Amino acid sequence: MAHVSDLIASDIDAYLAAHESKSLLRFITCGSVDDGKSTLIGRLLYDSKMIFEDQLAALAADSKRHGTQGGDIDFALLVDGLAAEREQGITIDVAYRFFSTDRRKFIVADTPGHEQYTRNMVTGASTADLAVILVDARQGVLTQTRRHSYLVGLLGIRHVVLAVNKMDLVGYDRSAFDAIVADYRDFAARVGLAAVTAIPISGLKGDNIATASTAMDWYRGPTLLEHLESVEVGDALDAAPLRFPVQWVNRPNLDFRGYAGLIAAGRVAPGDRVRLLPSGREAAIARVVSFDGDLPCAVAGQSVTLTLDREVDVSRGDMIAAADAPAEVADQFETVIVWMADEPLLAGRPYWLKIGTKSVSASITEIKHQVNVNTLETQPAKTLGLNAIGTCNVQTDQPIAFDPYEANRDTGGFILVDRMTNATVGAGMIRFALRRAHNIHWQALDVNKAARAAMNGQRPAVLWFTGLSGAGKSTIANLVEKRLHALGRRTYTLDGDNVRHGLNRDLGFTDADRVENIRRVAEVAKLMVDAGLVVITSFISPFRAERALARDMLAAGEFIEVFVDTPLAEAERRDVKGLYRKARAGELANFTGIDSPYEPPEAPEIHIDTTRLTPVEAAEMIVDRLFEDFNEVAI
Ligand code: ADX
Repeated sequence: MAHVSDLIASDIDAYLAAHESKSLLRFITCGSVDDGKSTLIGRLLYDSKMIFEDQLAALAADSKRHGTQGGDIDFALLVDGLAAEREQGITIDVAYRFFSTDRRKFIVADTPGHEQYTRNMVTGASTADLAVILVDARQGVLTQTRRHSYLVGLLGIRHVVLAVNKMDLVGYDRSAFDAIVADYRDFAARVGLAAVTAIPISGLKGDNIATASTAMDWYRGPTLLEHLESVEVGDALDAAPLRFPVQWVNRPNLDFRGYAGLIAAGRVAPGDRVRLLPSGREAAIARVVSFDGDLPCAVAGQSVTLTLDREVDVSRGDMIAAADAPAEVADQFETVIVWMADEPLLAGRPYWLKIGTKSVSASITEIKHQVNVNTLETQPAKTLGLNAIGTCNVQTDQPIAFDPYEANRDTGGFILVDRMTNATVGAGMIRFALRRAHNIHWQALDVNKAARAAMNGQRPAVLWFTGLSGAGKSTIANLVEKRLHALGRRTYTLDGDNVRHGLNRDLGFTDADRVENIRRVAEVAKLMVDAGLVVITSFISPFRAERALARDMLAAGEFIEVFVDTPLAEAERRDVKGLYRKARAGELANFTGIDSPYEPPEAPEIHIDTTRLTPVEAAEMIVDRLFEDFNEVAI
């Protein structure tokens, strides 16, 4: 631990000050244990005479105890990264190691190379400036080297070190190294990796790690550590236009209204003109406030509170951007999505999309294709499974401010979160906004829902029946409609079997098709509510997510979930259509309750226990409840 010990012993303040002003390089190592990755990292830490994490922590504690100013070691950088990922619900399989040399601080994300590689690499690489791609000199460029490199390119890591390891095992042979490098450069160009620095090393023997190898005098380039210490990264973000996603609106009293957050790109100073997104309004910066008081200027990476020269409506998740170079605003995008969940991605299903400090509801409108990372070929796909990468169109339920991922990883990268479990299920990169989003405008019509409802003399609503096949949904729905009709209501029933003969004739019973089935039905039901009708839908609608989607599409109180609760055994005993028998006999696949799941509602507005109520009683109860809700009396 030689390079630090002198100063630590003699002048801890000076050491810490020097340490704080060092630049930070975040990098990721890609390769498997067989490639010698652990050895390399161990060697790097050892040869760089690193400070061990616990020593540094002890140091920080010490400096605080002694009340020294500036004793705050920048550990937050390490801890932040971890906290953010934890918040996102990713099970981290990535170890972050911190070390430093006289010239720089480093955080290395060590991603295990097993089958979860994609997810781990995305996690580890999302903040990395550089990737070290390890190749065994005896093996050369392998499929996994290609796979890792493709991901590195996809995730926008601009700097790549090709570390050709185990040179000692090929007799430090120059031609072996040259052949691998030539092979790799060919491939790197195809996946968009421009800056590749190739270094022949031996992690085991220490050749070209921290000290120049004496066994390879044909190599005149830097050692790995020299390269890591000197490679230029970073500053580009400072020079970019201002991007400030608002994390929090700070309003301690009526005289102060500040917007707190982390500057994602650019710089900001009082007087700067800014555009508020997505609203598009303009203002000027009044003050840039930090923990230590007002600042004349702040840059990317700093956390500050901004105040504006006028009262405008800005909330959490909005973006404050340079007025002359604002971010884009759109609600439809072409994206690349890396899927990270065991449950496949389903087009049409709503997910939470988190971009910067903003969370919106979003769905994939089209999976254009999937990429085979081993061959780089694209192939058609209906869903994306674990670790799959696909080009997908995404639609958000409200416009969001963004930059293409290529321009800014923070404002162009997003994660997808399952709305039911809150687990992170995917990571995505925005390529561009779809032009169609600019050309389709919502047509404001003069005769609106309220006018149509008034003409019909009723409050429109959806009675959304859900339950197993054969539970009695259609029978009860039919009785409900008859009764409503008799009472002079304008109604329409959308029934599973019927809709599947027309509008949804192209859909089967896979999870993906069921999601699409219900999405379309929800859209149609919404239009019918807009037309002022009382709509009755009768579909198994087995998944909570799609029922929630339908609920969210409608106004409060318009969606009335009716759970037609018939236990599986009872539905199977009745087996009105003979389908359970077929399913049990293996003649019908994906049958709900048998080999396809049914997720019962957790809090339906109306719960019908068909083992205790006759269909007529159930229908009466539903109609009574509907009128109760509407403060009307069914006569
Ligand atoms: S949903 O799951 O997508 O909501 P939907 O209600 O439209 O299903 O269609 C269900 C009806 O289709 C059932 O009542 C049954 O008559 C028929 N059916 C045919 N195959 C299946 C299957 N594999 N699973 C469930 N229902 C099926």
